[in-house]
Amino acid sequence: MTQPDIAHARFPDGFLWGTATSSFQVEGAASADGRGASIWDVFAREPGRIRDGSTGAAGVDHFNRYAEDVALMKALGARAYRFSIAWPRVFPDGDGAPNPKGLDFYDRLVDALLAAGIEPYATLYHWDLPQALQARGGWEARETAHAFAAYAGHVARHLSDRVRRFFTLNEIQVFIEQGYGWGNFAPGLRLPRGRLNQARHHALLAHGLGVQAVRAQGRPGTLVGPAENMSTALPAIETPANIAAAERATRDLNAPYLGLMLEGHYADSWLAEQGADAPRFPAGDLAVIASPVDFVGLNIYTPSQYVLASGQAPGYVALPLQDSHPHMASEWLKLGPETLYWAPRLCHRLWGVETIYITENGASATDAPDETGAIHDLDRVMYLRACLMHLQRATREGVPVRGYFLWSLLDNFEWADGYAMRFGLIHIDFATLKRTPKLSAQFYREVIARNALA
Ligand code: FCB
Repeated sequence: MTQPDIAHARFPDGFLWGTATSSFQVEGAASADGRGASIWDVFAREPGRIRDGSTGAAGVDHFNRYAEDVALMKALGARAYRFSIAWPRVFPDGDGAPNPKGLDFYDRLVDALLAAGIEPYATLYHWDLPQALQARGGWEARETAHAFAAYAGHVARHLSDRVRRFFTLNEIQVFIEQGYGWGNFAPGLRLPRGRLNQARHHALLAHGLGVQAVRAQGRPGTLVGPAENMSTALPAIETPANIAAAERATRDLNAPYLGLMLEGHYADSWLAEQGADAPRFPAGDLAVIASPVDFVGLNIYTPSQYVLASGQAPGYVALPLQDSHPHMASEWLKLGPETLYWAPRLCHRLWGVETIYITENGASATDAPDETGAIHDLDRVMYLRACLMHLQRATREGVPVRGYFLWSLLDNFEWADGYAMRFGLIHIDFATLKRTPKLSAQFYREVIARNALA
């Protein structure tokens, strides 16, 4: 039998190559055209919240420089761009009357993308909740889910003549756990478990109501789904027993997120664990949360666990990572490129999802221009090459991954790390905002051109 030549193996014809950003991380123009404040504007101004003391207010001026950024995407050969819409631009008070100028920027951006042959994929919520809603309880308030649905419907009505695919909420897991549980992300709360569970439930309800609103108000054929950072357990060694263990562990890890959205009920084991802290809700919520979706977006960076099969409940043991386990510049970004294989495979297998996009994958690195101005980000290239090799394995085995959005097009405001963590293919000089493609941009351009790694 001949061995497959993995490096030369192609991705499926029509595989969609793209890049991704989010509104608060890149746009700047914090008060242009009547934009309201978001929870990240407020949080970043609080002393000690952001590692480098920056506020994110300037972003990287994507709002004004979008035409240059679209040209950079075109030069990569990318065929899709995942961006997010800032809710506080569209509804400065979160609900009520829409800002008549709130979608003007996105109109311009979408037109520029289409003119460049780049398909727009819009995320409706990438963490920048209108501060006015936070003042009324934020995700702890059930009304926030309804306000999201009204906003989602409004956007779909206006943009679905040109934007055919929408993602509802980005990484509910992260903005709930870190924003309302650990307190290191906006709005910086550390809620007790019962209130945290209730906030999570409302975010999931917003997802379901958002799916319904996009369907109801978008043009026929508008497609919609979540973009979630699926937690992935990997078999420590690939044997049938360990693979079955990884499936079980992955299902447990995602029980109150993708599990709920795709199975339509909270797992019994999860409810038992929460006891009196379990969320309370009217009976109809579960059917709304599990509204059928057209695709699932997975943000995949790092493994959650490596597991071995076990004869004892729950059927697996999670192995602790050694101190020496390598990571990228961000400490949380532990290496495990095979996650790009296992996450979509397990998503397909556990929940029967037939259309999967990798909505984010990428790496932070300590990029700095050399004396000629070039940025040779070899470690990012290494990371991407390894991840894409494993993703290619998934497509080769028939796992239905339709596209890949590299995080990120641009260096940007990396949340609590401020501008101290760079994820871009394009380097940004934060003093002058000059854009310079890095070596990884050249690498990605080659991958796109060949639809293969080599
Ligand atoms: C994801 C976020 C994205 C970016 C990357 C590095 O969790 O969705 O905004 O911060 O991590």
